[in-house]
Amino acid sequence: MAEKVTFKVFRFNPEKDKKPYYQDFEVEIRKPGMMVLDGLNQIRWEMDGTLAFRRSCREGVCGSDGLNINGVNMLGCITHISDLKPPIVIQPLPSLPVIKDLVVDLTDFMNKFFLVKPYLINYSPPPDKERLQSPEDRKKLDGLYECILCACCSTSCPSYWADPEYLGPSALLNAARFILDTRDEGADERLEVVNDRHGVWRCHTILNCIEACPKLLNPTEAIGELKKLLIRKKF
Ligand code: SF4
Ligand code: F3S
Repeated sequence: MAEKVTFKVFRFNPEKDKKPYYQDFEVEIRKPGMMVLDGLNQIRWEMDGTLAFRRSCREGVCGSDGLNINGVNMLGCITHISDLKPPIVIQPLPSLPVIKDLVVDLTDFMNKFFLVKPYLINYSPPPDKERLQSPEDRKKLDGLYECILCACCSTSCPSYWADPEYLGPSALLNAARFILDTRDEGADERLEVVNDRHGVWRCHTILNCIEACPKLLNPTEAIGELKKLLIRKKF
C-alpha cells in the first residue's frame, strides 16, 4: 500500500463559514519527488473538489502558488513533501485577506508593485533600433530581474504585517531593478516614492524576506542599495 502523509489544510469560505478551520486529508505518496502542489491536486481532484488554491506553471516560474507550509512561506510546486515534517500544515500567505481557502487577495500587493513604476522610463528620443546595454551593465540586474511576484517575501516581513502602507520587500526590489538599469531615466521619480517612512525606511533588516524567496533573491540587499542611493543623492 502507498505511504500516506497528512495534509492539514486551512479552509475558509466567507460565504458560508463563520470562521476558518483546518481539515485533514491523507495524501498518497505515489511517486518519488512528489511536491506539495501534487498533494493539493490529489486532494482537489480525488477528495474534495471545493478546495481553492492557485497554481499554473507548476515549476517555480509563474509565482502563483505561494503558500505558508509548516510555518514558512514557499512555493508549493517546488517544495518536496519528503523534506517536510508531517503533518504538513498548509495555510494561505500571512497578512493578506483570504478570498477562499488558500487563495489570498493580492490587490494591495500588486498596487504597491505598480507604485514603484516597474517599467523602463526613458525621455530621450528613441534610437533607430533598440536601446543598447553593455553586458557588464546587464549583469548588474542579476538578482533583481528574476522576481516572479510570488509575494512570499513581503508576507513574511513583520514590518509589512505591522504597517499596511509599507511598500514591502518585493516592490522595493523591483524599484531597484529599474533604478539600476542603465537604459532607464526614471530613478529620481522612483526614489521619491521609496524615500518614505512607508518605503525603504520601514525596513528594519529583519531578513525574513531573504529566507522566504524561492528564487534566492536578496530584497534586503536591494533595499540597502536604495538607502545608499538616497543618502548619496541627499534626497
Ligand atoms: Fe517572490 Fe522573491 Fe520576488 Fe519576493 S523577491 S516576490 S519572494 S520572487
Ligand atoms: Fe522586512 Fe526583509 Fe526588511 S523581512 S524588515 S523587508 S529585511
